[in-house]
Amino acid sequence: MNTTTPLAVIDGAQLRRDGDVIPFSYSDSFGREQEGFVLRWQGEFFAYQNLCPHWSAPLDEYGDGLFSHGSNALICQTHGALFEPHSGECISGPCVGDKLKKFRVQTDDDGQLIITRAGLSLS
Ligand code: FES
Repeated sequence: MNTTTPLAVIDGAQLRRDGDVIPFSYSDSFGREQEGFVLRWQGEFFAYQNLCPHWSAPLDEYGDGLFSHGSNALICQTHGALFEPHSGECISGPCVGDKLKKFRVQTDDDGQLIITRAGLSLS
């Protein structure tokens, strides 16, 4: 799989409000199933791997959602780390300064969100 092969294609119209999140599954370069999600925030779309840089646990390990409207940030349910929606950088909690792995999101003429690893952050 090259970096431009879509990991997922999601109808952007399903993300109606800021803070809405849609999860998706994809295969990594070793063929292992991984989880990601796409977020709408301030009218833009951002996609990340659903894996906290602190303990490599899914952000929603306990099923309580990925976005905190009270904090205007993505949240890891395990230890409460908060992540800036645009960059995925941890701004509060045990992994401040670390980043979620970010994917590239492109919108086609039909409003479909094409998610690829081309924009994957290596940090
Ligand atoms: S595993 Fe996410 S904050 Fe600890």
